Amino acid sequence: MFHKKTKIFLDSANPAETAQAIEMLGGLDGQTTNPSLVVKNLNQSSKISEEEMLGFYKTNVQKISKLIPNGSVSIEVYADQRTSAKEIYEQAISMNEWIDNAHIKFPTIPAALEAAAKFIKQGGRANFTLVFNQKQALAIHNLVISVGATKGQVFISPFVGRLDDIGLKGVDLLANVQKMYQQLQSPVEILGASIRNLNHLQYCFDIGLDIVTLPLSIIKEWHQSQNITYSPQNLTPIGFENLDYTQKWQDIDISHELTTKGLLKFAQDWKSLLE
Ligand code: G3P
Repeated sequence: MFHKKTKIFLDSANPAETAQAIEMLGGLDGQTTNPSLVVKNLNQSSKISEEEMLGFYKTNVQKISKLIPNGSVSIEVYADQRTSAKEIYEQAISMNEWIDNAHIKFPTIPAALEAAAKFIKQGGRANFTLVFNQKQALAIHNLVISVGATKGQVFISPFVGRLDDIGLKGVDLLANVQKMYQQLQSPVEILGASIRNLNHLQYCFDIGLDIVTLPLSIIKEWHQSQNITYSPQNLTPIGFENLDYTQKWQDIDISHELTTKGLLKFAQDWKSLLE
């Protein structure tokens, strides 16, 4: 094995892939889903109602949960720039009832943070997604501290590959958030997402990241490879920022162009099949 402490999640909304990943790795610590993955898994071209779409999502999440009853299964709320905190909160409550081992995924936008604060305060488990910089990670930590949470109750998902896509060294964000969270003694666990290759995976192992979520294609490559080592790539490093940790989470600017773009893509994919 190449890792000692990093938990392995599968990034897929398809329970058949869960079974394959378990077979290859001998187990899984969890699974993450998102609206684009749900639509991909639905694999159909005719339009359906939102109720049918949610029903499909629920059925598959329940199948996944049965395969990994002791793991965590992330279910993502629908949100676009107009969705209110109340609407997001209501979705979180409803999705959380689908299974016993859910982490509800909230995009890192103001309305979703407001909804998540209420949800976490009541004991809900959350996974903040579409994270692209350290300021967003600080806001999430400060939010969690303000409402109280135990270790493992909240995850944060920095997106590595999408930073690479714009020429930045995405894995640096993982190391920077990890360093900041160590300084803050944060209860929030870091989940490396948008993992595109074995190089990314090895980096997560090398720094002892809490969790990494992998598409089945990467699990297959990993399974077949004898050895993997991290080799630096020609990307612009992301420096560690010395932020003012005492700021209130509501006062931290969490806007990021890739968060906006990612939110739009999830919303477009979700709506692409709706009547
Ligand atoms: O875990 C998030 C992931 O599904 C996004 O990956 O490759 O679309 O950036 P990607």
